[in-house]
Amino acid sequence: MLILAPSILSADFSRLGEQIQAVVHAGARYIHIDVMDGIFVPSISFGMPVIQSIRPCTDCVFDVHLMIDRPERYIEEFVKAGADIITFHVEACDGRVKETIDKIRSYDKKVGISLNPATPVCEIEPYLELVDLILVMSVNPGFGGQKYIEESTEKIVQLRKLVDERKLKAVISVDGGIKKENVGEVLEAGADVVVAGSAVFHGDVEENTGFFMRQLREFER
Ligand code: DX5
Ligand code: ZN
Repeated sequence: MLILAPSILSADFSRLGEQIQAVVHAGARYIHIDVMDGIFVPSISFGMPVIQSIRPCTDCVFDVHLMIDRPERYIEEFVKAGADIITFHVEACDGRVKETIDKIRSYDKKVGISLNPATPVCEIEPYLELVDLILVMSVNPGFGGQKYIEESTEKIVQLRKLVDERKLKAVISVDGGIKKENVGEVLEAGADVVVAGSAVFHGDVEENTGFFMRQLREFER
């Protein structure tokens, strides 16, 4: 099943609960939550208290994307705040990739591994069997509203092939610069989950979500 994961980084934070309910009502199954620490990425977004306060708004999947240095230190706190899937960056964990995966698993949560545009697939290849989600960054992480990096399409194709050949359970999620104009290209390349921030939350949220949902259905056939 193909899934839309609206990134609340581009939401109107004064109406966050309402906007989350709008995207869920229009068909989104994941809420993508971008956590930035100002160290691994240049910007700072929000953390556990925000996640905790929106948790009662919906029972849909909280897809937490940690753009933080040494994420292993904070897994328990994100679990307590309400995360369902915890995705960390392979570049951020000082080589402690397996330990980070094990830590997330120890709380019975789904594990996601992410790679930056400049990181080759071989860096995450040894861990693919161990994760539930592979997050392909199609922009340099840190800000919403950036332009999709075209080379990402080739990376999605490469990962799709690997996942299918090895019959892995992991889904492929793609994050950054996905708009109405290029979502087809991303799905065609083999994405299972589409993350979209500004393209969902700027303008009419329900209408935008509806557009993406129709695109997903088309590729489902
Ligand atoms: C980038 C974040 C993305 C971003 C997506 O650092 O991980 O989730 O918010 O936003 P758009 O869809 O606007 O590129
Ligand atoms: Zn993200």
